Amino acid sequence: MEDPFFLGDLKLGSNVFCAPLAGCSDFPFRQMINLYRPGLFYCEMVKMDAIVRSDPNTFRLLDYEASMHPIGAQLCGSKPQLAAKSAQMIEELGFDVLDLNCGCPVDKVTKDGSGSGLLKNPEKIGEIVTNMVNAVSIPVTIKIRAGWDSTQINVEEIVQIAEKAGAKAICVHGRTRAQGYKGPANWDYILRAKQTAKKIHVIGNGDIYSAEDAMRMFAYTGADAVLVARGTFGQPWIFEDIMRAQKGLPPKVRTGEDYRVALLRHFEYTIAYEQERRALSAMRRVACWYLKNVKGARPLREAINKCRALGEMRKLFEEFAWDKIEVSVTVEQEEECESLC
Ligand SMILES: Cc1cc2nc3c(=O)[nH]c(=O)nc-3n(C[C@H](O)[C@H](O)[C@H](O)COP(=O)(O)O)c2cc1C
Repeated sequence: MEDPFFLGDLKLGSNVFCAPLAGCSDFPFRQMINLYRPGLFYCEMVKMDAIVRSDPNTFRLLDYEASMHPIGAQLCGSKPQLAAKSAQMIEELGFDVLDLNCGCPVDKVTKDGSGSGLLKNPEKIGEIVTNMVNAVSIPVTIKIRAGWDSTQINVEEIVQIAEKAGAKAICVHGRTRAQGYKGPANWDYILRAKQTAKKIHVIGNGDIYSAEDAMRMFAYTGADAVLVARGTFGQPWIFEDIMRAQKGLPPKVRTGEDYRVALLRHFEYTIAYEQERRALSAMRRVACWYLKNVKGARPLREAINKCRALGEMRKLFEEFAWDKIEVSVTVEQEEECESLC
């Protein structure tokens, strides 16, 4: 890695970043991730319109604490006329980086041309990014998919547009919009972005579930940085693992005790931040992440799903036989868990 790594004038401690994850990368999640210090993490995406009308629920998604710097916010929208104002509001909230979402595949987002809808209209990406860059002094980044579908790959074109508009980095998720989140990410798209980029940094994203995956992505694509998304679920230490691998240090073995401590800590962060009903629902999802790779944990997962009180849930976590567990991280189990959550 470049030592240190810069986004514009912003100095980052590492080129291993944590992805925006709507509905998942909330404040307690980021507190957990912060224990392992990625170079940068992004809050979940927020809509430009909602920021501009000062929607309180949207501001809550952007909660952070001082120790989380450097931290990025991500805006989603397709109206160039809102770009400057919403970008300024993000900067005023103290964020260090601002990202434009050009990847969200959800119909209700793409129908007005936002998220991956912008991939169909690359000039608009240029217009929005230009307006953002002119409005703020923090670095602006963008996050794209490789194209709308396999017949409309326009990663090279967007790299050039983003570079010209003054973005400091472009994150390439190696899937198309049509793929959603299924099937393997194609890292060739990241490689193609890197071959096109002149001065903009390329951040590779897709299918990093371990330090080995991250090291393979760096080697294969030549990416300047990597962004870990679902690989963070239930293993917040993945950032430490990757940074150790970068330094040639041996991997740390994660034991049942590590899982117990992490899940209980995530629980404490969640109950300190959310009301009981929301905390219960969040912790059902979070517990599923930590338990997905644990053999024999299905009865516990079922008990957690039925649980109606936080005290009862804590007891379930505390009384589980963590010292007897066997953990094996595979992508297949990851997908099985998603359908459970
Ligand atoms: C639950 C979920 C929420 C996501 N939310 C966002 C988001 O708010 N903004 C964004 O740019 N990408 C979002 N993504 C996409 C991820 O950041 C990432 O690009 C994608 O999951 C591919 O990386 P992976 O294969 O390592 O998971 C989301 C993905 C998931 C699974």
